Amino acid sequence: MPAELLRVLACGSVDDGKSTLIGRLLYETDSVPDDTMAALEADSRRFGTVPGGLDFALLVDGLAAEREQGVTIDVAYRYFETPRRRFILADAPGHQQYTRNMATGASLADVAILLVDAAQGVLAQTRRHAAIAALMGVRRFILAVNKMDLVGFAPAPFAAAANAVRTLLARFGDASLVAIPVVARDGDNVTTASARMGWHDGPTLLAALEAATPPAPPADAPARLPVQLVLRPDAGFRGYAGTLRGGRLAVGEPVANARAGTGARIARIIGPDGELDAAAPGTPVTVTLDHEIDVSRGDVLAAGPAPEATQQITARVVWMDDTALFRGRAYLLMAGAASTVATVTEIAGRLDLERIAEAQAHELAANEIGTVTLALADPLALEPYAADRASGAFILIDRLTRATVGAGMITRVQPNGRAIYWHRLDIDKAARAALKGQRPAVLWFTGLSGAGKSTIANLVEQRLHALGLHTMSLDGDNVRHGLNRDLGFTEADRVENIRRIAEVARLFVEAGLIVLVSFISPYRAERMMARERVAAEEFLEIFVDTPVAECRRRDPKGLYARADAGQIRNFTGVDAPYEPPLSPELRLETLTAEPDRLAEQVVAELRRRGIVG
Ligand code: ADX
Repeated sequence: MPAELLRVLACGSVDDGKSTLIGRLLYETDSVPDDTMAALEADSRRFGTVPGGLDFALLVDGLAAEREQGVTIDVAYRYFETPRRRFILADAPGHQQYTRNMATGASLADVAILLVDAAQGVLAQTRRHAAIAALMGVRRFILAVNKMDLVGFAPAPFAAAANAVRTLLARFGDASLVAIPVVARDGDNVTTASARMGWHDGPTLLAALEAATPPAPPADAPARLPVQLVLRPDAGFRGYAGTLRGGRLAVGEPVANARAGTGARIARIIGPDGELDAAAPGTPVTVTLDHEIDVSRGDVLAAGPAPEATQQITARVVWMDDTALFRGRAYLLMAGAASTVATVTEIAGRLDLERIAEAQAHELAANEIGTVTLALADPLALEPYAADRASGAFILIDRLTRATVGAGMITRVQPNGRAIYWHRLDIDKAARAALKGQRPAVLWFTGLSGAGKSTIANLVEQRLHALGLHTMSLDGDNVRHGLNRDLGFTEADRVENIRRIAEVARLFVEAGLIVLVSFISPYRAERMMARERVAAEEFLEIFVDTPVAECRRRDPKGLYARADAGQIRNFTGVDAPYEPPLSPELRLETLTAEPDRLAEQVVAELRRRGIVG
């Protein structure tokens, strides 16, 4: 039987001596090919920083440099083994901008090695790495305090570093820590015990790695089958394929699909080598059920006490994007094979890694870790991370760029439908619109301040009104005097501004009205969200396209002049961004046409769409 495989994540920076440490581990476990060894000896003589010896940093950095010439690989994987164990070591780059890669490596790791420089102690970056690894579910940590020679092999700096990391990890529950004083350059406590630090009564780094066992799921854990694929080769067969997690699953056992609130019994289990009576966790299986129930890709078939479907979760989130996370913004949430749109409804706090305490936050910037509440557009069967590592973890994706912007760990699941009910009303949108003899719609005017949004919207409304249509106007300047009086012009406030207006526009559509919305609405994400609040044919994005130079020339409210003079901050087009629509229903060029003509153009478009008869 092959030795057990352990996945190890190495965190730390080049300055801490990470390359040297990894190089030495590879060397002392005979994992370096002969020709590479010969090259290392030659390179060490020429470029090495270790007089007369091998410079192991050259080994690892050499590999890294090769990588950089080709396609950049986010995380480098290195393989080594001992008679007791096989290891895959993910070498995550140490710099701050690589947090995302670090999180990727951590999400797969059984053990994390945190490397610090004894002379420097525990830095913010170490705390961040420890926190991310713990968030991503790593429960075993090894702290390697390197360069002990620089502190005269004294126990005190070592103990101080160990205590700092232990205090931090205590925030993340049951994580264990083994601290080891090392000198990677000379090999002290890497694979052989150091004679220079007789006071260390713990293991060497390699011994600690060999002793770490991959976490075993509890024996009585209920089985979970995340459905990767629904197989229907013919009308007679309907199978659900995925890799079993949690506990054993047997034929005859009842399982539930929490999302749909339905259940059935397992009829057959087909494993990699054929029919099974029962399967152990980790086995790829296809199961069939004794009767047909609603199951689709992304659902989880659960034995034992089933997870409940939820539309509200609280989670620890590591933010990875240069654009901050804002309350009110919607992202795509992916948990296993399931996904839905998730809106941030609250930011409860941000983890202050210096003070190791929760701090107030209105947004999460890149590399920050916070506690947020998310509202899900569709019910998903999710569980707290503590109950099931796989269904408690998720990533957040930017819906426009498709980039992975966050990673989260669920701390609390609000079971569905307990607190707030949707009351069905008998008089609905269609009834209200019919009485008015019209089709409701949202005309969403977007563009820079001074572009002419309000002017054109006003002319359009006059025309619609004259035609006997029922309308309502929502104008940025006006709404900011009332409903949105509490909001300013930070990114977070603008996101919330538009979120509220999108909801108000939707309510007016429910009332059967034609709603004219004139807000700068600078972000694509929020305009997309507004669009999704109503039916596809009810939303017209109208881009009032006036170049910033022209807006500045017109400057109807004198605001550009004040912004240029530095009296107004975050002014759109000056020191705050505007993201022009990529495919608006209508684009109005104000440089070449008068407002009246442009208003006609809007009415003509409404006629073409049957909104104006
Ligand atoms: S939005 O960006 O959040 O959509 P909104 O349309 O509500 O903005 O308000 C824009 C109006 O507020 C502008 O037309 C202008 O009169 C005024 N205003 C005051 N400060 C700013 C600012 N910093 N940026 C943009 N508009 C501002």
